[in-house]
Amino acid sequence: FPQESAEMSALRALALSVLTAVLASGGNGIQPLGPGCHLYPFNVTIRSDRRGTCQGMQSISACVGYCESSAFPSKYSVLLASNFKRNITSVSQCCTINKMQKVRVKLFCGARKEEVDIFTARSCRCDMCRLSRY
Ligand SMILES: *[C@@H]1O[C@H](CO)[C@@H](O)[C@H](O)[C@H]1NC(C)=O
Ligand SMILES: *[C@@H]1O[C@H](CO)[C@@H](O)[C@H](O)[C@H]1NC(C)=O
Repeated sequence: FPQESAEMSALRALALSVLTAVLASGGNGIQPLGPGCHLYPFNVTIRSDRRGTCQGMQSISACVGYCESSAFPSKYSVLLASNFKRNITSVSQCCTINKMQKVRVKLFCGARKEEVDIFTARSCRCDMCRLSRY
């Protein structure tokens, strides 16, 4: 990578530490994140309906962290083909789930019990960025 000025790397370190602090404080008091993309445990509450007729809690994992991204001045061929519009070529990866696993959650409905299956992350990796869809 091209070397960056001391100022830029100080700024980047600051930005990272601010982001880390934000994630750490929002994450149920989990330890601050290091570099990379890692399993991140958290608790979810599952409710069968809005009134919470049946409910249960389960610890599951997400994948949280940092993956590399970079931007290069576009190749001349790309510039030509895009009429000099695509002047930046970005390469990026996102922290995503590599393997998922089902876990069974017990829901308590007063004296009665129910079970539902939900997913948890088993392993993480830096991979193609996907937009969320609902
Ligand atoms: C999840 O809940 C359990 C039991 O209440 C608790 O011991 C644990 O610390 C919680 N984990 C997180 C990540 O908040
Ligand atoms: C890249 O091209 C766009 C569109 O032609 C232009 O608006 C933008 O300023 C250029 N970016 C840089 C970093 O020069």
